[in-house]
Amino acid sequence: MSNNHVIQIAPSILSADFARLAASAKEAIEGGATLLHVDVMDGHFVPNITIGPPVVASLRKAISSDIPLDCHLMIENADEYIPAFADAGADWISVHQEACVHLHRVLQHIKGHGLKAGVVINPATPIGTLTEVLDMVDYVLVMSVNPGFGGQKFIPSCLEKIRKLAAIQSTLRTGFKIEVDGGITLENIAEIVRAGAEVIVAGSAVFGSGDPRKNTERLLKTGREANLLQV
Ligand code: DX5
Ligand code: ZN
Repeated sequence: MSNNHVIQIAPSILSADFARLAASAKEAIEGGATLLHVDVMDGHFVPNITIGPPVVASLRKAISSDIPLDCHLMIENADEYIPAFADAGADWISVHQEACVHLHRVLQHIKGHGLKAGVVINPATPIGTLTEVLDMVDYVLVMSVNPGFGGQKFIPSCLEKIRKLAAIQSTLRTGFKIEVDGGITLENIAEIVRAGAEVIVAGSAVFGSGDPRKNTERLLKTGREANLLQV
């Protein structure tokens, strides 16, 4: 029995050359990427600083509007910044369960802007912390590395977490997608898809070395085949 998941590759621009961001993103899109993952870090919630709304606005101008910008906010006080990201052209916004005291309110706020709302959990955060918001989110982002940096190794225990979440997903009337982020490569993408992931974030596997087009194509092909072969 195969599921009806549509596998999507979301290249993380964190691993691209920021001086040629639009060109790199377009290469990945030519390889089959159907959304772009934008990692926003504040130096407080995570020990790194990256980019904010101005870069999202520039990307939005440069990239075809068919390609949603998936903004992963690894920041404190995310609620304060939702309007700025919405104005900049974010299409999907995810916030960390661990960083939001009023998670329900922040998710409502994102949806109030007409955007897709996602909740993110770190590797040490149990799925049970999401029970009360699963019916209001468009996607759950399972971190498979500790957030803050690209190029880290996939944490294997996250596979079981994806499986558990997929089991819950199949029992709910409202649908949410399962996105996975961190350490995904051509070698492990098949098992991640088989565990139940639909949206696959890949930074270094797309932009780290070689041609982003070919890298994206290969990831997508391997991910789709794993999905089709599911029994
Ligand atoms: C980590 C970020 C990820 C990361 C993915 O905090 O959320 O999106 O850039 O990069 P790779 O695929 O290299 O692990
Ligand atoms: Zn991310």
